[in-house]
Amino acid sequence: MSYQRLPYADWGWAELRAVLAAMLCGRIRRGPGTRQLEGALARLLAVPHVLPVNSGRTALRFGLEALMRLRPACNEVIIPAFICPAVVEVVDSLGLLPVVADVGADLNLDPAACAQRIGSRTLAIIVAHMYGCPAKIETFESMARATRVFLVDDAAQVVGESVGGRMLGTFGDFGVLSFAQSKCVVTGESGGGGVLICHENEVFPIVRARVEGLAPAEGRLWALVAFCWNYLLESYTASLSYRWQRLRQQVVGGGAHGLVPAGIANLDACLALVQLRSLSQRREQRLRILGHYAEALAAPGAPWRMPQFSPGRYLARVMVSLPPGVELDACQRQLRRESVCTRRAYATHSPASCSARGSPDPGECLIELPAYADMTARDVADVCQRLQRVAAAHRKCVSNRHDGDDDERCCQ
Ligand SMILES: Cc1ncc(COP(=O)(O)O)c(C=O)c1O
Repeated sequence: MSYQRLPYADWGWAELRAVLAAMLCGRIRRGPGTRQLEGALARLLAVPHVLPVNSGRTALRFGLEALMRLRPACNEVIIPAFICPAVVEVVDSLGLLPVVADVGADLNLDPAACAQRIGSRTLAIIVAHMYGCPAKIETFESMARATRVFLVDDAAQVVGESVGGRMLGTFGDFGVLSFAQSKCVVTGESGGGGVLICHENEVFPIVRARVEGLAPAEGRLWALVAFCWNYLLESYTASLSYRWQRLRQQVVGGGAHGLVPAGIANLDACLALVQLRSLSQRREQRLRILGHYAEALAAPGAPWRMPQFSPGRYLARVMVSLPPGVELDACQRQLRRESVCTRRAYATHSPASCSARGSPDPGECLIELPAYADMTARDVADVCQRLQRVAAAHRKCVSNRHDGDDDERCCQ
């Protein structure tokens, strides 16, 4: 079976041409790409202002800092229990108090749970569209208006999808995009790009002043080399180089709180422009792959669920929930040996509340499956067969051990 990889980036000749053009013209850090990207994104999203920066974290940080200036007496931010750790990092690093609210079956913030958490010290609600699945953002917008709380539309994991005719990222008081690996638009590893989406409101002048004071990100050519190393040689280097990058970011790139804020480099802006042009084509490919997975996992009585799937809905990642009793780590190891890459979901911030509700903890039962541009129905069927076989073996192993038959071999 050929190597089945996770969505990391779908790059081709157009991206290579953009890189070569920027290099040959000596326009790695500065150049016209940034302004062009601003224009392209403002048109796509139909908003008055977009401010490209070096990461989603920088965008979120600057936006939240502006909200803090506007309402200094409020220091609580409502975040979903299931969220990318980068969001929590930013909230923590600003000295704000993250208030965790439950997520629903679609893995997005649950409006009722969020409403219960709003109090007199609530500064903002951060709503993310997890793995590209749209949250109930219109409901949150009404809720935020009614309670006079700021709303952050964190569309880091989805670009170009809409709800009620409005693009995700354009709701609330400001929005966020990210161009890091595995996202819809990829310019490199985390630090390659992000965007603050702004409206004509009190937040905009504050963030604009912050972003205008930034120099473009440095070291982007080396970051690109590292990214290509991961991207092209991933099947040989496994996750080693990825882990190295993460470690390097922690140590060199601004400590535990992630990246040092910077503007977007011209090279990354040019890459984002190219990726935006192929967005709808890649969307179609992803819909096709999601359809194949839904079909392959839908045997009668099968215990598999794709909690966010609905026909015709774009999802940035293929997340499948494993049946209870399956040892996730052991499954992953075995699949990896069989050339099938998988990834676990983020850890949940309040696993106790999941068990209280009787719902499975997403962090404990979800697994991400491969998806890449030219993946065929046959590839998907192969991945699913392997997953089913491996999961069955590791479930049996768990139940055997519970019965006192401590046969470790099947879990190796
Ligand atoms: C929901 C969400 N918000 C913000 C971010 C931060 O984006 P970046 O990695 O570009 O800093 C991420 C990153 O994965 C994310 O998933």
